[in-house]
Amino acid sequence: MTTSNMPAHVGIIMDGNGRWAQHRNMARTQGHIEGLKAAKRIVKAAADMGISYLTLYTFSTENWKRTQEEVGFIMGLVKKYLMAEFDFYNENKIRIRFSGNLEGLPQDIAQEVVQVCEKTAHFTGLSVILALNYGGRDEIVRAVRKITEKHIPISEITEATIHDHLDNPDVPDPDLIIRTAGEQRSSNFLLWESAYSEFYFSDKLWPDWDAADLELAIKSFQKRKRRFGGITT
Ligand code: FPP
Repeated sequence: MTTSNMPAHVGIIMDGNGRWAQHRNMARTQGHIEGLKAAKRIVKAAADMGISYLTLYTFSTENWKRTQEEVGFIMGLVKKYLMAEFDFYNENKIRIRFSGNLEGLPQDIAQEVVQVCEKTAHFTGLSVILALNYGGRDEIVRAVRKITEKHIPISEITEATIHDHLDNPDVPDPDLIIRTAGEQRSSNFLLWESAYSEFYFSDKLWPDWDAADLELAIKSFQKRKRRFGGITT
């Protein structure tokens, strides 16, 4: 794979854990365990490829509608493994960051997230942004609230003002957004930031993803002509 024209920021909608398990007559929760393993494989692959930012859509503001058992299981996975993987972050210089509504998370999970972000803040390799209790619309609403709290005059509000009050304004917009498992929609993921992102859809279920699949997605991205609303010369 050529290393020129690499995406700086890749976002992934990790879909298909439940179907992966159902196809094997297993509980949906087993699919999430395998999904977590896939996430670790892809984080390692992204770090090795020199990608700077990887946003993983881990739990959306709409995912609370799932059964209490499934929600509890996913939160349990986050609690059990997020900090436990510190040696992996350290070896690969991976920084963990957060995007989403922290206040709406169970307190122990929120604490875990804040702690892992602090402990890895000095790592200068890949930044993995955990989108947890994340919704693109919710992020924009929270940005508007922050702006209102500061009493910024309406006449001074521009696109840059909104951008500056999103969860991670220093992170560049995603160049490439991947969705696995056959569905072709954005499902409230990075709504503001994805205005000019390239999309890549794969039929493969998330637990089956490995480095070769990420490479295929990046190769597809590298062939695209991005115009950002302008014209190519
Ligand atoms: C999508 O599959 C997966 C999720 C909504 C859940 C969370 C993701 C993981 C547990 C993997 C990564 C975890 C971390 C902490 C990085 P689905 O359940 O929507 O699948 P389906 O569409 O086949 O039902």
